[in-house]
Amino acid sequence: MRKTAFITGVTGQDGSYLAELLLAKGYRVVGMIRRTSTVPTERIYHLGETLEIVSGDLLDEKSLRHILETCQPDEVYNLAAQSFVPESWTQAVLTGEITGLGVTRMLNAIHDVNPHIRFYQASTSEMFGKAQEVPQNERTPLYPRSPYGAAKVYGHWMTINFRESYGMFAATGILFNHESPRRGMEFLTRKVTYAAARIAAGLQTELRLGNMDAQRDWGYAPDYVEGMWRILQADEPSDYVLATGETHSVREWVEKSFRALGLDYKDYVVTDPRFVRPAEVDLLVGDPCKAHNLLDWKPTVTFDQLIAIMVEADKALVAEQEATRQVIAKLRSIH
Ligand code: NAP
Ligand code: GDD
Repeated sequence: MRKTAFITGVTGQDGSYLAELLLAKGYRVVGMIRRTSTVPTERIYHLGETLEIVSGDLLDEKSLRHILETCQPDEVYNLAAQSFVPESWTQAVLTGEITGLGVTRMLNAIHDVNPHIRFYQASTSEMFGKAQEVPQNERTPLYPRSPYGAAKVYGHWMTINFRESYGMFAATGILFNHESPRRGMEFLTRKVTYAAARIAAGLQTELRLGNMDAQRDWGYAPDYVEGMWRILQADEPSDYVLATGETHSVREWVEKSFRALGLDYKDYVVTDPRFVRPAEVDLLVGDPCKAHNLLDWKPTVTFDQLIAIMVEADKALVAEQEATRQVIAKLRSIH
């Protein structure tokens, strides 16, 4: 029988790739969108009516219950979150409400409506924060370094609690950073590839960044949504690290992205204290052995390939935006 998947955060980077993946696997896919005054469907527009859209919000438990009752999903992927770490210091309570308590609202709703639903929680390597060991695995103690990380720790442990208290199939993926041309512009990788492409096109002269010494384990988002699906197909619910097992500094990402466009980043990058965080996560590198051994999951895109994919995509985007701008300027000059 055709399975139904319900995705929160479907308008985000991961939600859009996961919806594509599940549709390709023959699922009926229902995605939740919260009410906004502008249209947030840029990443899922191409899916058209193959993706069912419902209205709801992680802040509103009744809306979640209503969706579960009407859509009757077999699997729920909870990807929605206030996911930008710097914003979590300025909006700590809101981040806790969405990224932390939102998980409990969803778990409560599943427990009451149909406890047989399989639940995936988007946990994160940010929970390791001030990392207590290198590399980090499923047993590494958690030490969050931001309100976002703390909210995710709460959601992570609530998922485990519902699993242990009620025997629900509630699983987590502890995902290390994963990127793509659909990454939000405010995140480091995309901020860099987009700015480098604009600089190469002569449209911008500098790029202002924060701490260049932090190290991250960066992978390719489509690989990671495949891992999410595998986590929910396992015989037993559990927690899995998804990572590449390699770490690179912010500086290396910047240097290679600029070099891919024939530029030396030192000519353009300026350090700006506005982008330095109150507390930093210095070193993340994951050990994905459990996912490899039990789920046969492996990342397919290397660090260098990821940079190439994102630089090429932003080069094309900048060219397209510039062409549109020129057409509009020409039309304005005629009329
Ligand atoms: P993203 O692009 O920031 O997307 C976040 C999604 O959450 C958007 O669809 C957003 O909707 C939605 N959302 C925010 N507040 C909501 C609310 N109150 N109710 C309902 N929906 C709400 O994030 P992502 O990179 O795809 O990440 C997906 C998930 O994985 C997040 O939980 C993130 O914390 C986690 N994670 C990400 C990474 C990574 O490297 N990308 C690593 C580990 C874990 P709008 O479009 O309306 O804003
Ligand atoms: N965003 C940003 N902007 N980051 C900068 C900048 C800048 O101008 N300059 C330096 N950085 C550094 C940050 O200090 C951090 O060490 C690193 O670049 C990566 O920052 P982000 O891309 O914003 O990602 P993140 O690691 O903080 O969080 C992402 O990954 C987590 C998984 O570890 C997000 O996707 C989280 O939602 C996710 O959980």
